Amino acid sequence: MRIGIVGSGAMAAALGHRWVRAGHTVLLGGRDPGRAAVTAEAIGARAGTPADVVAGAEAVLLAVPSAVAAEVAGLLPAGVTVLDPTNPVTHGIGVLTLPPGTAAARLIATAAPHAHVVKAFHLFPADTWAGTEPVPATVALCGDDPAALRTAETLVRAAGATPAVFGGLDRARQLEEVAGFVIGLAFGGHDPRAAVPGR
Ligand SMILES: NC(=O)c1ccc[n+]([C@@H]2O[C@H](COP(=O)([O-])OP(=O)(O)OC[C@H]3O[C@@H](n4cnc5c(N)ncnc54)[C@H](OP(=O)(O)O)[C@@H]3O)[C@@H](O)[C@H]2O)c1
Repeated sequence: MRIGIVGSGAMAAALGHRWVRAGHTVLLGGRDPGRAAVTAEAIGARAGTPADVVAGAEAVLLAVPSAVAAEVAGLLPAGVTVLDPTNPVTHGIGVLTLPPGTAAARLIATAAPHAHVVKAFHLFPADTWAGTEPVPATVALCGDDPAALRTAETLVRAAGATPAVFGGLDRARQLEEVAGFVIGLAFGGHDPRAAVPGR
């Protein structure tokens, strides 16, 4: 698969590395071409501008701050699967920064109505994906397009984890709230895994 990653930071490097190792073609680019070149070389990807990396991609990871994701979404070509890992939460506290009733994934979908947005990968720290071994993680996905969900499932497996389709994009807010819950507990010194039943 040809995968475009907008962003060249922690998430771009970690997931890009996994997808390159799985045999996919990865192009990445953020604002700073020098940083993109360094990150791309480190993981065996190619660097480009954000517009370059999304052109012709079958899937795009928006590995940018939540506040700019909808703006970047204006670059997305029609029909592409868009993986949204963004967390629209206050750092270290976890309160959502969006008004009730909306979600970061919904704002991206509104900005790119001809693309297919899937909420994905937002719950796990970037270093989850740092190694090469399978990851004991279930990545919850939500989206409205069945083919895009299949593509997202393929890319979760390629990253070494297990996908779980949770529902349509109307449930993205719920997944984003869960991230806020996890972040709030973790920064408060608690293990979020111990705060939910194991079954
Ligand atoms: N880090 C984690 O553990 C983690 C876990 C789950 C979800 N997430 C989410 O994943 C997203 C990326 O996180 P990250 O930790 O990878 O962030 P990061 O290391 O700060 O990297 C952000 C990237 O976005 C680029 N960028 C910023 N504004 C841009 C714009 N207007 N156009 C194009 N590129 C732009 C930056 O470009 P420059 O390189 O030029 O500065 C940088 O490459 C965030 O939304 C975060 O909430 C992060």
